[in-house]
Amino acid sequence: MLNDEALDVLFREARTYAAWLDKPVSDDVLRRIYELMKWGPTSANSNPARVVFLRTLRAKERLRPALSPGNVPKTMSAPVTAIVAFDLCFYEKLPKLFPHNPAMRDAFANAPQLVETTAKRNSSLQGAYLMIAARALGLDCGPISGFDNAKVDEEFFSAGKEREGFDQEFFPEGNVRSNFICNLGYGDRSKLFPRSPRLKFEEACTLL
Ligand SMILES: Cc1cc2nc3c(=O)[nH]c(=O)nc-3n(C[C@H](O)[C@H](O)[C@H](O)COP(=O)(O)O)c2cc1C
Repeated sequence: MLNDEALDVLFREARTYAAWLDKPVSDDVLRRIYELMKWGPTSANSNPARVVFLRTLRAKERLRPALSPGNVPKTMSAPVTAIVAFDLCFYEKLPKLFPHNPAMRDAFANAPQLVETTAKRNSSLQGAYLMIAARALGLDCGPISGFDNAKVDEEFFSAGKEREGFDQEFFPEGNVRSNFICNLGYGDRSKLFPRSPRLKFEEACTLL
């Protein structure tokens, strides 16, 4: 079992940040986040999440028009913004990711509703793994869903564009959609609001 100090870092003292210290986040740390988060479980080991780490002002400027106004300062000032997205063609990688059951690829290929549900559910989980991994590595997070997903998808994932000949740098197949974004960096504790309460065990859980 982890000790109290580790549990504080991951959960009890971990907060959602909107203000950031002037301390950069290296590409190496971003790779280390992925190398931890990738081990989190997903259904059929589908690994549908795709992540775009925006870590230059130029890259972040492309995100700005999609942000709701209240989310602009906290996002533009963050050292890194991760777009947590999902690949609607994730099942094409199942022969590699789930080799003991070759029928799984076809089960998804013929079921678009199941594909969407699976992609959204599991990329959300993977986004949570990303946040826990980031916290474990000493970073702070600021998750955000207040943005225009369609604008992000068009700008970064070529959604709605002609696929052929479209020069799309991240996921050229055009099947990737945004889920939520997560600002990453070293948070400024002095700018935190008091923490809001959580539900008690009796309010949120039952023992059957
Ligand atoms: C998926 C998700 C979307 C969120 N979207 C926004 C947002 O659009 N704008 C914002 O200011 N905070 C957003 N938040 C932050 C939450 O309000 C915050 O995590 C929650 O109040 C808990 O705060 P704490 O971690 O400091 O206790 C979002 C959080 C999550 C997990």
